[in-house]
Amino acid sequence: MVKHSILPQRGFFPQPVYLIGTYKDDGNPNFALITWITFCSVNPPMMMFASRGKKLTRELVEKNGMFSANLVTTNMMFMADYFGNTSGYEKNKCEDIQAEYSKGPALNVPVLKESPWIYECSLIDIIEKGDGYIYIGEIKNILVDGVIEDIGYGKIDMINLKPLIYAPGQYYKITEKIGTVGLSKKKLIE
Ligand SMILES: Cc1cc2nc3c(=O)[nH]c(=O)nc-3n(C[C@H](O)[C@H](O)[C@H](O)COP(=O)(O)O)c2cc1C
Repeated sequence: MVKHSILPQRGFFPQPVYLIGTYKDDGNPNFALITWITFCSVNPPMMMFASRGKKLTRELVEKNGMFSANLVTTNMMFMADYFGNTSGYEKNKCEDIQAEYSKGPALNVPVLKESPWIYECSLIDIIEKGDGYIYIGEIKNILVDGVIEDIGYGKIDMINLKPLIYAPGQYYKITEKIGTVGLSKKKLIE
């Protein structure tokens, strides 16, 4: 494979798609689309997302000390794209597109009815790096769609869950499972 170097830039992929939920001062919910997001500790369970620039989400996460992270499925693509291209400073986004939400059972964070997998997190740290900020949250609760029966290791059915996948400027879906973890070891033993 012949390779060439390109200038360091933000091209990074694939990325998962989540909606970070917070409550505004007037009680309305706000959601922003975030794709720079991952797990960072198992015990205690923690996750982190990165954000840069002026965003209502950053302000509210810092002020309220908590947020929800709602997995986006392919069915939620329109909603997610709207939340990712509209500022919460200017609009009541949920009202605009009639997105249904409720208060999380564990924390005072809005959670989306349509999302099948939601983390409720309390903010434990903010790390400033370059022009970005990393928000680290301890996971206090995970809300899982009732139809998902087995959430054990290796049991999540990504075909049925239908998570939306992001690559700069484009959305994708997952269509096929092609392996299980440990398959290389099995092959070497045979
Ligand atoms: C596909 C996509 C991915 C995005 N990922 C991020 C991200 O990882 N971090 C971030 O700070 N903003 C990201 N954004 C931008 C925010 O979602 C956007 O600025 C949003 O309007 C912020 O809303 P708010 O002002 O209500 O917080 C993304 C937008 C899109 C469309």
